[in-house]
Amino acid sequence: MNKLAPSILAADFAVLGEQIQKAAAAGADYIHVDVMDGMFVPSISFGMPVISSIRKVTDCPFDVHLMVQDPERYIEDFVKCGADSITVHAECCRHLDRTLHQIKECGVKTGVALNPATPLENLTYVLDKTDMVLIMTVNPGFGGQAFINSSISKIKRLREWLTKENLSTDIEVDGGINKNTLPRVLEAGANVIVAGSAVFSGDIEKNVKTLKDIMK
Ligand code: DX5
Ligand code: ZN
Repeated sequence: MNKLAPSILAADFAVLGEQIQKAAAAGADYIHVDVMDGMFVPSISFGMPVISSIRKVTDCPFDVHLMVQDPERYIEDFVKCGADSITVHAECCRHLDRTLHQIKECGVKTGVALNPATPLENLTYVLDKTDMVLIMTVNPGFGGQAFINSSISKIKRLREWLTKENLSTDIEVDGGINKNTLPRVLEAGANVIVAGSAVFSGDIEKNVKTLKDIMK
């Protein structure tokens, strides 16, 4: 089943709770929560206090994407403030296998994100411990960037690999997804779709419905 995960990075933070409720009511499956540390990526977004606050406005699962160096320092904190899944970057973890165990032990789903330049092969020994692989379709750090075309063959190769291994791991895509790029990532094998600007610029309900229609 295909799932839509609106990224609140593109929301209006002055009315964040209301915008999340609108996206959820229109059919969002998850809320994608981008945490940026100003080290791994150039920008800083928000952290636990914001997540605790928005946890109160919706039951929609929180898909937390940590763009954070050495994220093992914060796993418990993010679970406590309301994460339902935690995705860490392979590039940020000195002991990725250990970090994935740590996430599992906290009782939430695991995700591993790969930057556009990071090979799929980095997943070889952790694939069976990963509930979701996040293929970055832009270089992480900012919303509103253009989709990187080479991601398509990467998604295809990953889907083929998972099928061969008989794994039902989700493939999430993040960055530059809109009504034009969406059909291409779906066809390549992605099934969890992050969209920031394509949801929160303009009419949120209408945008969610447009994307969900393409995903049917
Ligand atoms: C990028 C973030 C994305 C971003 C996507 O570093 O991880 O989730 O918000 O934004 P759009 O959909 O506008 O490219
Ligand atoms: Zn993200």
